[in-house]
Amino acid sequence: MMHIEMNVNGQPVARTVEDRMLLADFLRRELGLTGTHIGCDTTQCGACTVNLDGVAVKSCTVLAAQASGGVVTTVEGLERDGQLHPVQEAFVQCHGLQCGFCTPGMIMAVEYFLRERPAALDEETICTALEGNICRCTGYVNIIAAVRHAAQHMYPDLNLAAPAAAAQP
Ligand code: FES
Ligand code: FES
Repeated sequence: MMHIEMNVNGQPVARTVEDRMLLADFLRRELGLTGTHIGCDTTQCGACTVNLDGVAVKSCTVLAAQASGGVVTTVEGLERDGQLHPVQEAFVQCHGLQCGFCTPGMIMAVEYFLRERPAALDEETICTALEGNICRCTGYVNIIAAVRHAAQHMYPDLNLAAPAAAAQP
């Protein structure tokens, strides 16, 4: 057992946990933050994606002990003052989900992708950015629409009518 401390969604938390406890299990079992889903435990699906110290990580592959001293944001921590984050709002507006199982991880991955203000928002760029997140329902069309919708909200100066595309021969 070991004592760990971290900031989760703006709140300091401290617990004594097993050395081997995964961050995903810590968030779900110890803190009740069940928005972080576990779909595979093998780093494939991305449903467990959270933000650790500013970077999107798959929390099923991070020990809670490794996150000790860090700053974690989960999907529950994205809204501000009762307002959904633009990425959350975009998934609502574009219906970027069906069963919703992948959605928290997808939203966290998109938030990280867009926070860096990507140079391009063509389909290939978005799909590459989200290749670590699997959705078994939507066919990704509405997810890609949600990414572009959120980007337009976050960066109103973007011209999505003419996204940067691969150079033509
Ligand atoms: S549960 Fe972490 S990648 Fe699937
Ligand atoms: S909405 Fe069902 S897995 Fe993505």
